[in-house]
Amino acid sequence: MATIKGPLSDDARNTVAECLQGALVDLIDLSLVAKQAHWNLVGSHFRSVHLQLDQVVQLARTHMDTLAERAVAIGANPDGRAATIAKSTKLAQLESGWLEDGKVVATITDVLGGISKRLYERIQQTEEADPVTQDLLIAVAQDVDKQHWMFQAMS
Ligand SMILES: [Fe+2]
Repeated sequence: MATIKGPLSDDARNTVAECLQGALVDLIDLSLVAKQAHWNLVGSHFRSVHLQLDQVVQLARTHMDTLAERAVAIGANPDGRAATIAKSTKLAQLESGWLEDGKVVATITDVLGGISKRLYERIQQTEEADPVTQDLLIAVAQDVDKQHWMFQAMS
């Protein structure tokens, strides 16, 4: 079996792998929460929120792949299994059934704020350990903060 040896020391790899896995779980669940809201949305602001939610899904799907592949490149295994996400997600979960637009905007605003906060912590933690991963996390934070702004503006 092939062994992937990345550029980092064992200590640095462990630190960075934990940051990447945490951000991966955040993004995978963000894609699921945003799609669930995209589908079940009702309310007078349906169209704008429905479309905005798909921008969040796209953001999450794009960045989750970048982060997972960085994990592999440093010799760590990303874990995107449904059971892992369900067990380790920190995101607020939506109710089943119809979702009123005002509630969705409030929930997604909180979810994006939480993800942003954790990204900034991970940006700090990877500063010394792996500036390449830090750079990727900064790019994710830029996009998450942009969506966080837009959802705050809708509330
Ligand atoms: Fe759609």
